Amino acid sequence: MLGDRSDPSLIPFLVAALCVSSLIGCKRDLGECNLDGQTPDGRPIEGPAAFDIAYRETDGLPMYEGQAIVQSTCGDGAFCHAPAAVGDDRFGTPSGLNFDVDLACIGASQDSTCAQPIDSCEGGQNRTPYCERLRGLQNNQNQVRNWAEGMIKEIRSGTMPPGAAGRSVRNTIPWVRKSDGGQLPSIDSSEGQEIVRNWLACQAPAIARTETPPSAALELEPCQSVDDEICVYSGPGDLPDPNWSDIYFGIMFTDCVICHGPSNDNTDQNPNNPLDGNIPGGASPAALAALNLSGVDTADTTNWPAESWSAVVDALAADPGDCAGQGTLVIPFDPDGSIMIQKMRNVQTCGDRMPLGGSISEARIQVVEEWINQGALNN
Ligand code: HEC
Repeated sequence: MLGDRSDPSLIPFLVAALCVSSLIGCKRDLGECNLDGQTPDGRPIEGPAAFDIAYRETDGLPMYEGQAIVQSTCGDGAFCHAPAAVGDDRFGTPSGLNFDVDLACIGASQDSTCAQPIDSCEGGQNRTPYCERLRGLQNNQNQVRNWAEGMIKEIRSGTMPPGAAGRSVRNTIPWVRKSDGGQLPSIDSSEGQEIVRNWLACQAPAIARTETPPSAALELEPCQSVDDEICVYSGPGDLPDPNWSDIYFGIMFTDCVICHGPSNDNTDQNPNNPLDGNIPGGASPAALAALNLSGVDTADTTNWPAESWSAVVDALAADPGDCAGQGTLVIPFDPDGSIMIQKMRNVQTCGDRMPLGGSISEARIQVVEEWINQGALNN
């Protein structure tokens, strides 16, 4: 029986069968493939997964995490392993050795040549500009698959991206990970290398196009699903209403209390807790000392919005924080002058951008602004 994996005579057959499937890794040196929290044969597995998605901070462009790291460090359309790179811009990379895995299209509303289904390009019979780009992406994916073991060796040994050329092609635009909201680690870090290794072991899946073009307003909003390598955006998602309780549970509690709250192992009694009953906190004593966004009851967050409001509105930046003496966190009717907005938008004059190490979408920041413009009430 085919399903009987314990029969040794079937193993070569199964390996051969798995190898024809485009998403299954067969290169042993690359280690195991974690597709989305499980191996291709269904075993649960830890670590970064090939289908985890990252969003480019400037415009929300989605890519799989490994795709994003390789794309932004191996040429990004202009250098070395990018097809458009010629002459000196290749820094000695052999011609034809292209690892460009950029999307073939980012939405038909921006580029009418994309207005055709992805499967209309199958078989190569359709020579439209879109199908040509898709084929280019698929060819480069194949190159990546063929060179996968060499790529990971070079990346690990620090020879790729190489020296001065490597530094100049390194894309410094951050990518935000959907899994935890933090930034995608650099290719120099062991975590970044593990993401690339796993992506290669899973045969380098790529998001090939988006259904709706990314934009500032859609920034960081997840692909609702990724079907046939198309990221389907659902629009800006559920934004909170411009009142403090909705903003609190839609932004502060999910993105800020992890640092701006004390550690708390209780299960929340509040039925409106958006984090499945978990109460975040304890990650940063420095943040907590500067601003405490929690409330009194440590096992029920129902009143935390009302109780934390005065720590924010008309509150002077507090002493241990980097903004002490330099202003007020939220000034009613003055979003631009409010340190909290400045920090969320990364235009602050003191301390760091918030959330530290991550970002929140422009659409969410605008909801907080609207609440401030309406007087920043404790509502
Ligand atoms: C990873 C930890 C971390 C997260 C997450 C985080 N903060 Fe902070 N925050 C800090 C630290 C550390 C400071 C103190 C240093 C500074 O002022 O930059 C701080 C300071 C601040 C201050 C200034 C407080 C004062 O009195 O000076 C504001 C306002 C603030 N954060 C807002 C936010 C908001 C809003 C979020 C969520 C969108 C957030 N933070 C998420 C770590 C964090």
